[in-house]
Amino acid sequence: MLVLGIESTCDETACSIVRSGRDILSNVVSSQIDLHREFGGVVPELACRRHIDVIIPVIEEALTHAKVALHEIDIFAVARGPGLIGALLIGLNTAKSMALSLQKPIVGVNHIEAHLYAAMMAQEVPLPALGVVLSGGHTSLVKIEALGKYTSIGSTVDDAIGEAFDKVAKIMKLPYPGGPQIERLALQGDPQKHLFKAGYVKGRPLDFSFSGLKTAVLYAIKDRELTEQEKMDIAASFQEAAFRDVVKKTMMAAKEHEVKSLVFGGGVTNNMRLRELFEKERGYQIFWPSKGLSLDNAAMIAGLGYHVYLNQGHGDPMTLEAATRITF
Ligand code: KG4
Ligand code: ZN
Repeated sequence: MLVLGIESTCDETACSIVRSGRDILSNVVSSQIDLHREFGGVVPELACRRHIDVIIPVIEEALTHAKVALHEIDIFAVARGPGLIGALLIGLNTAKSMALSLQKPIVGVNHIEAHLYAAMMAQEVPLPALGVVLSGGHTSLVKIEALGKYTSIGSTVDDAIGEAFDKVAKIMKLPYPGGPQIERLALQGDPQKHLFKAGYVKGRPLDFSFSGLKTAVLYAIKDRELTEQEKMDIAASFQEAAFRDVVKKTMMAAKEHEVKSLVFGGGVTNNMRLRELFEKERGYQIFWPSKGLSLDNAAMIAGLGYHVYLNQGHGDPMTLEAATRITF
């Protein structure tokens, strides 16, 4: 079965053709980083306009790469949320139009669930697993009993972890997106220089809070011009504090929920220091998304879309709706 997936939840316009949930025939991503860089973050209205401009060429490119004609597609899958409403609607309406005109099934896919599926696409994961989503919009711990069967066990009460990286980078006058910049600087910084700490949510030990950590960085800088070494030390100390908190809560959740493996998803999982910290932990098989599948992409949408279709059947193109917030 050939599935065409579309992703347009935030600032990437993406289309991918995946066979039977596993074989990626093409994976095209048009990133808008250049567009939003001067604003230090995503500007929703600009994101929508760019989605409109590029979505058809991106779909055409994905079909060409896959050497597949549009009429050969069996199922259309689209990220229906969570995300920016205007951005979501563009992907959703494009997918609906194609499904309606070709009289093919359409399925709506949860973007966060798809981030977790990205690491499960190429290999069998022992279940139950603990899903850990670390992205620009989400920080979630999810117990995965089976595909489609999830329990949310922790999430952020304020900033998402990637958002905290982006905000700290902005405070330090580094370009957007901040995650890769912070990682690069941190390589040469002293992680013990500043005693930053991520937040503890009273009575909810598996929830996250990163906004206090971001404010602590702001106070450490106090509007000063920083030397390169100071920037490196702040980046390293911030990154270490954020990741140690993620490791601690993930391992606590894994033990408490008696999972067999850890499954990671989202753009922050590109970070090598994060991977290094988890590789030191014992007792669980660890699954990371492979190259091209950690940042927003449509292969994870098409891949998961196949299973959603098998498990739930297809949605109605006339009633399938975007959802800016979806929880597990
Ligand atoms: O998964 P993603 O593409 O978007 C959302 O669904 O939100 O993740 C983007 C986020 C950004 O916040 C970006 O700064 C962060 O992932 N990121 C990183 C790294 N690469 C991307 N954070 C830390 N280290 C990295 N190397
Ligand atoms: Zn994402």
